[in-house]
Amino acid sequence: MSARAASPTGRRRVVVGVSGSIAAYKAPTVVRRLREAGCEVRVVATEAALRFIGAPALAAVSGGPVSTGVFDDPAAVEHVAVGEWAELVLVAPASADLLARVAAGRADDLLTATVLTTTAPVMLCPAMHTQMWRNPATVENVATLRRRGLDVLEPADGRLTGEDSGTGRLPEPQDIVAAALSALAHRRTPEAAAQVLAGHHVVVSAGGTREPLDPVRYLGNRSSGRQGVAVARAAAAQGARVTLVAANISEDLLRGLGPTVEVLAVGTALELQDAVRSACVDADAVVMAAAVADFRPRSVHSAKIKKHVLTPGQEGGAPRPAPIELVENPDVLAGLVSRPPRTDGVRTLVVGFAAETGDADGDVLAHGAAKARRKGADLLAVNAVGQALGFGDVPNAVVVLDAHGAEVARAQGTKDEVARALVALVADRLAGTCADAQ
Ligand code: CTP
Repeated sequence: MSARAASPTGRRRVVVGVSGSIAAYKAPTVVRRLREAGCEVRVVATEAALRFIGAPALAAVSGGPVSTGVFDDPAAVEHVAVGEWAELVLVAPASADLLARVAAGRADDLLTATVLTTTAPVMLCPAMHTQMWRNPATVENVATLRRRGLDVLEPADGRLTGEDSGTGRLPEPQDIVAAALSALAHRRTPEAAAQVLAGHHVVVSAGGTREPLDPVRYLGNRSSGRQGVAVARAAAAQGARVTLVAANISEDLLRGLGPTVEVLAVGTALELQDAVRSACVDADAVVMAAAVADFRPRSVHSAKIKKHVLTPGQEGGAPRPAPIELVENPDVLAGLVSRPPRTDGVRTLVVGFAAETGDADGDVLAHGAAKARRKGADLLAVNAVGQALGFGDVPNAVVVLDAHGAEVARAQGTKDEVARALVALVADRLAGTCADAQ
């Protein structure tokens, strides 16, 4: 078992320690409420605790055995195992004696040994008489524990064991559980910590631009957006914040991307350029999977173009189609390399896609390598179009080239598999950049 291992249940793991105090009778309520909040709980009680509350009661509410001594199962090295398993060690109640033993670094039972071995946060919920809480020995112990980073909650005011009342009462179980859940919420799960793009912003363009001719017609292409959406999904699964610039992608494909993916819908190449460049001002990586039209009609007619509008000079003759004059669109990818939108000194990793068919001038890879050199992107994923490869919901194969046209990697399979492979390459490059920067 390791502290970094993912929980098979996906639930947060809390060790509840119970020490010898009359308030131990509240521990089952704490355990029950933690479990109701979706936590997995293991109970470790001291010998003294079991004089106040029975092990069967704690076992029943926690749904597992209650451990006590370091030597109950020496072969299992339980104190290390329990400490590593925990994402939070919560001691409720923590008696004056328990605080003293933890402050002294003692490890004479399973609970103190667990506190000493764990790397998880430790939260101690004191319960004792006011005089014990105010005693300079306890005051010093609490100060020591807090200085070392342990979280010692303030005890509540109210009725104590006997007729007396004052400060020293165990905080109410709902308050303890709220504090525990908040501590867990501020700490990323080991699963999240293992995500290779956590803390990174990745911009992905996907789909195909449409360049309008008139209110009903456009020049477009057959890109569905599936590959780019898969890249966005894979990057989000690795913990990235993702901006997906979606050019004419169906709602169905965009469903279920999750809260860490922001979708910006665009239509034309110019709109895509604006959206990508503004999203890239703080991007760590940009993946240009969109099929961007290289040209657009010079003018967009405000009314539908009629079949019988004659080409100038053809008066009197049969109707002829008016030619469509095209102007060049900006190359968004090349612009990201030559004029990076990010200006704070951090370099954005630029990744392009190239769908190639191969022709008399060269095969798919020769065209891909020439494009890689021309565009200057850090990585260019080249795929062969044709024979049912590349477009639509079909398996995909890419060869990834660097800016010099040299092969870096190959990936094939479903678009999700290709996307995961590309995202892994992006993460490797970003990790390399961070390591270089250190
Ligand atoms: N691209 C872009 N802006 C354009 C055209 C393409 O950003 N105006 C990007 C695409 O998103 C892709 C890469 O450039 O990441 C390669 O696109 P592709 O259409 O293969 O390249 P072109 O430069 O248009 O080359 P070709 O002559 O093969 O069409």
